[in-house]
Amino acid sequence: MYLEGAALEVSFLAEQIRCAEVHVKKSDGPASPDSTSLSRRSLLQGVSAAALLSIVPGESKANSSPRGACSAPQTATDKSKSFPEKFLWGCATAGAQVEGNNTASDLWALEHIPNSMFKEPSGDACDHYHLYAEDIALLADLGFNAYRFSIEWSRIEPEEGQFSNAELNHYRRVLATCREHNLTTLVTYSHFAMPLWLAKRSAWQNPSAPDRYARYCERVTKHLGDMIDFASTFNEPDVPQLLDWITMPGAEGNMAQMFQQALANARTALNAPGFASFFAADPRKTRDGLLAAHSRGKSAMKSARPNMPVGFNLAMSDDQPAPTDSHLAEKRADVYGPWLEVAKKCDYLGVQTYSRSIVGKKDLPPPQSAELTQTGMEFYPECVEGVVRYAAKETGVPIYVTENGIATTDDTRRITYYRRALAGLKRAIDDGIDVRGYLTWSLLDNWEWMLGFEPKFGIIAVDRATQQRTIKPSGTYLGHIARRNSL
Ligand code: BGC
Repeated sequence: MYLEGAALEVSFLAEQIRCAEVHVKKSDGPASPDSTSLSRRSLLQGVSAAALLSIVPGESKANSSPRGACSAPQTATDKSKSFPEKFLWGCATAGAQVEGNNTASDLWALEHIPNSMFKEPSGDACDHYHLYAEDIALLADLGFNAYRFSIEWSRIEPEEGQFSNAELNHYRRVLATCREHNLTTLVTYSHFAMPLWLAKRSAWQNPSAPDRYARYCERVTKHLGDMIDFASTFNEPDVPQLLDWITMPGAEGNMAQMFQQALANARTALNAPGFASFFAADPRKTRDGLLAAHSRGKSAMKSARPNMPVGFNLAMSDDQPAPTDSHLAEKRADVYGPWLEVAKKCDYLGVQTYSRSIVGKKDLPPPQSAELTQTGMEFYPECVEGVVRYAAKETGVPIYVTENGIATTDDTRRITYYRRALAGLKRAIDDGIDVRGYLTWSLLDNWEWMLGFEPKFGIIAVDRATQQRTIKPSGTYLGHIARRNSL
């Protein structure tokens, strides 16, 4: 039975190569010496590993039925494994992490100061700014039907009040490429980074920041709104609060305290006493600013395009109580509470989760016996099920999983992670939880903020010297599920 499944897997994968080759020949993206097309060899490497995986018991059972041609999505026949109609399957990225050279942003400045809290600067990152057409084509060819990405405020408004039509047109071309591939677009207007001019004026602590953000939202929506299927005001606006609950192994104090020290260093190095950023600032004032900015930004988007669905993306852990002295309810009220209230008035909520937290007085370190990912998190794919159940119950709005994935150099663990995460998601959906999409983090191995390029979250590897992309077996695996809309 496994061998039969493996034979089918191989024929499916051969079909994938054919599709990818067709794509490479057809590709008319920007001509650049660095824009190397996907090579047959790199594809074959991914394919043979995926074919091998299909004969590993436990990894192959979900993949034992025939596949169709690359152009025609197959409907699953086995209802017990299939996802709801029009379910979104996709990948997510963020501008600062993949585009490269976001030189007008606060993070770029922070990356280049002495004793920077960033392990290495983002530099060219994945040069997605120039290679987006190839990257989007790869995503579509793998079988996905949705792409979530962020637009960079600092590119669009590099100096206060100076809006760049050229940059807005760049993102219009990105959206048009998604359209050409029939991809649903989920656009995040702010993913952690902001223009340096605003950061130097206290970032979200500045009382005028919400109005400045709303002006940006209006400008963007007027220019791009007709091509945006789902807009998000903010990526993970609850992170400043979350940091207060997390202690990094081996670190003194919690992460919020670490960022306070980094802030003092940045103010001196940039000679900007008022400097603040999303990560490093007074969390309470940041939250007030973000809540006001969400509300005004959302109104500005709606007045520019009333029928554009607007929501945001919340960072969530699958919180579970410690056996004694658990402050779980307190954590939930502190970190998610105000944002879950806001979500009730949104068109949807994006939830983003990577693991669980055992909550004592603060989050406890992972159990000693736990398998850890490259970012020190417990390998716990069932977090998706826990989080969607909780978020749906609290808000009553449609839920999309807009980030979930794992940092690992062992791609077989990523496949196992997806298999278990999706099994849990399916259980929740079968129980009536209104989940309408699953977008993995991430499309590409990218710049993971303070940790630099080391953690590998991507389903596509990036050789940063040549910018060559190589599809990993996990990309083929997840894309296959996406194409069939079925486990
Ligand atoms: C963020 C991403 C980040 C990912 C993995 C999320 O918190 O939205 O930007 O790369 O987690 O750490």
